[in-house]
Amino acid sequence: MNSSNSQEGIGQYIQRQLQWRYAAKIFDKTRSIAQVDWNVLADSLRLAPSSFGLQPWHFVVVQSSDLRQKLAEAAPMNRQKFETASHIVILARLKTIKVEYIDSFIKHIAETREVPPSALEEYRNMIVDVTQAMSDQDQVQWITRQTYIALGNLLTTAALIGIDTCAMEGIDPIKFDGILDLSKTDYVTVVAAALGYRSTQDEMQFAKKVRFPSEQIFTMA
Ligand SMILES: Cc1cc2nc3c(=O)[nH]c(=O)nc-3n(C[C@H](O)[C@H](O)[C@H](O)COP(=O)(O)O)c2cc1C
Repeated sequence: MNSSNSQEGIGQYIQRQLQWRYAAKIFDKTRSIAQVDWNVLADSLRLAPSSFGLQPWHFVVVQSSDLRQKLAEAAPMNRQKFETASHIVILARLKTIKVEYIDSFIKHIAETREVPPSALEEYRNMIVDVTQAMSDQDQVQWITRQTYIALGNLLTTAALIGIDTCAMEGIDPIKFDGILDLSKTDYVTVVAAALGYRSTQDEMQFAKKVRFPSEQIFTMA
């Protein structure tokens, strides 16, 4: 891992790590993420922001070789990542936002912040109004977007602590739900991420990063 040095400010360190990261294709099978680093990654998911703070997600962390094999078969284009990464995270989303879910969330805020639920009535009603006015399709889109914020947090945090990742949309979410027994829950698979350490055999780490120039993607208004 490239660690920060005393000559380098935190901003430069972050830029260096953002350049260092890439979507790893093959991981070093012999290396696994230490618990202390996994705790940081887990926090990047748990502490991710979400609209209203609703956290409409669930994360399945897969290490078992049996499950990996089954998931790999349901994601042929990403097979090698399932077989070589240290950890696989499946990011799942709530199927819908139900009023009962909002109420349990409000109860959780009240307990955490030690305020009476009645003080949160207005907030609760606003969340109910906004979410329940959405069409089913809009709700799915909205919940999915929240899950991608957690994914972004995970990828960036991993890069900052020198852990390689690959986000994976090339999976079969319905098959994943079956393999992971999510079908019986309120959650469904959205996207997955492989995490670990790049293999020396992964040629992609040597490829130049391809990004549009700033002039093209920013408007300073
Ligand atoms: C949401 C998302 C889904 C992706 N799905 C896959 C995937 O299924 N398989 C894969 O090899 N790369 C996947 N990628 C990696 C992208 O192809 C990669 O991030 C992009 O080409 C930019 O390259 P870089 O990340 O190496 O800078 C995904 C990236 C994102 C953000």
